[in-house]
Amino acid sequence: MEFFEVLARRHSIRRYLSRDVEEEKINLILEAVNTCPTAGNLQAYHVVVVRDRERRKKLAKACYNQEFVEEAPVSMVFLADPERSARRYGRRGMMLYSIQDATIAATYAMLSATALDLGTCWVGAFDDDKVREVVGASKDLVPVAVITIGYSAERPEITGRRKIEEMASIEVLEKPFPHKEVKKELKR
Ligand SMILES: Cc1cc2nc3c(=O)[nH]c(=O)nc-3n(C[C@H](O)[C@H](O)[C@H](O)COP(=O)(O)O)c2cc1C
Repeated sequence: MEFFEVLARRHSIRRYLSRDVEEEKINLILEAVNTCPTAGNLQAYHVVVVRDRERRKKLAKACYNQEFVEEAPVSMVFLADPERSARRYGRRGMMLYSIQDATIAATYAMLSATALDLGTCWVGAFDDDKVREVVGASKDLVPVAVITIGYSAERPEITGRRKIEEMASIEVLEKPFPHKEVKKELKR
């Protein structure tokens, strides 16, 4: 899929087929994740791939009973490793860079999965301690995102966005960017 088409096609999927995700696709996603930029190339994050049905059930509970988290055949749990970044960058590494590293990694996973015709959803509403418990992570790691992955069983809701003139400025915050539309939204 062409990159801009991947961006246009990605929307949150919250219903999944029971069909499993091929091992090769999971490996491709992880290889893509491993190319993402990180502060000082420290890669201050970890990802846990969850496939086991019982663990998915516990993960869904940890995500305040969001049922699709159990339904998705795969979830990738992205955890920031603040200590790893703090060794070089101190407080900024701990509070900001490690969280950004994990966030970028999760974004790469989402977009790669989309390019492989898989549906995804970013799940941010969860109990940190419970997620750590489900994936066997210590207190040193901070869960940042759970990305559900699987073959879609729904047509996604096409969510709207703010106008670019409202979202972006030129030079200073108060000046709206004079945006000229180049690409029409992808028609399904
Ligand atoms: C930081 C973050 C947290 C989110 N948490 C949840 C969540 O807990 N549950 C959920 O169903 N969707 C969650 N979403 C998905 C958003 O609701 C969704 O991306 C947004 O409504 C735009 O829709 P789209 O993804 O279909 O374009 C989250 C997204 C982000 C970026």
